[in-house]
Amino acid sequence: MAGLEARAREVLAPHVVDYVATGAGEQLTRDEAHDAWTRVRFAPHVLREVTSVDLTTTLLGRELTVPWGVAPTSGQREVHADGEPAVLRAGAAAGALTVVSSNAGTRFEDLPEAPWWLQVYLPADRTLAQPLIERAVAAGASALVLTVDTPVVSRKPAGASEASFWDLVDPARVRVNFDEGYAERPGSEKATDLGPHDIGWLAGVSGLPVAVKGVLRPDDARRCVDAGAAAVWVSNHGGRQLDRVLPTATALPAVVEAVGADAQVYVDGGIRSGTDVLAALSLGADAVFLGRSPVWALVEGEGGVARLHDELRRDLVEALRLAGCRTPREARGVAALPPAP
Ligand SMILES: Cc1cc2nc3c(=O)[nH]c(=O)nc-3n(C[C@H](O)[C@H](O)[C@H](O)COP(=O)(O)O)c2cc1C
Repeated sequence: MAGLEARAREVLAPHVVDYVATGAGEQLTRDEAHDAWTRVRFAPHVLREVTSVDLTTTLLGRELTVPWGVAPTSGQREVHADGEPAVLRAGAAAGALTVVSSNAGTRFEDLPEAPWWLQVYLPADRTLAQPLIERAVAAGASALVLTVDTPVVSRKPAGASEASFWDLVDPARVRVNFDEGYAERPGSEKATDLGPHDIGWLAGVSGLPVAVKGVLRPDDARRCVDAGAAAVWVSNHGGRQLDRVLPTATALPAVVEAVGADAQVYVDGGIRSGTDVLAALSLGADAVFLGRSPVWALVEGEGGVARLHDELRRDLVEALRLAGCRTPREARGVAALPPAP
């Protein structure tokens, strides 16, 4: 996976590179994400049979071939004309799940057959979100991911051109699942009053399990589960929201403990290699999600994303064998030490 970003930077327009790469504030959180995984130390098992490794993982009732998925990212059709369909096809072929952003550039009805979940931001007037959710359900979304770390979109550092990204994009390639005039409707602004009750409301209107994305604290994780969340997703939005928050590798163990067996726990942020995935699994994650890596890989279309999945699979199988594990589940507890803050 090394070199993906560098290759993408050679091809993409500067405003697209900035949009994908940039974090919030001084970008400390973005920059610490990967390093935090590298601080996990393993205590591998030996004298165990590791002839074959089976990565099969069940996420919210759906059996997948690998313990990772693609996190929701907007702007995919600015990276490659095939955008979301290419990411979904590559994911389906690899047996991975893909989460489609509510700001996607492809209409849900045009997505290919693949396992996918819809990510949602709820607006101040919740009922405005319903038509989009209903269309996603009809088009095959099998779970919802409620992003809860974005009451406002964080300002990006001076000089970074996120604003110009939204000015420069072709409107036909972003947010195409919202009706004409949606943004002008009263109540369409992001909700600043999200609460645990929204989890039950979403499950009710969709009939789907709900994962809550953007949790960093064990007490919040518990509130999500008590409100009916099927999964808690430890994330700091790739360092794009509040800067100086905990790295997800540091936050994960306490969330795993608070959730126990009552829901699944996922994590994203700075995961770049099979050893990073092993670190997350060893700290108790049921699955990991990849944000920027598949976006950079998408520069080479479906083939680029397929190669990313392939490389990660080989990398993780090797890491698991070296750790004396035959399955992702057996990796649990292989971390000798939680990562130092
Ligand atoms: C370009 C870009 C767009 C994103 N768009 C969304 C989004 O629409 N919804 C969301 O919940 N998260 C979004 N995220 C956050 C990712 O889902 C994920 O949490 C983060 O990228 C993981 O960190 P990583 O990039 O280090 O893997 C976005 C991230 C990036 C880089």
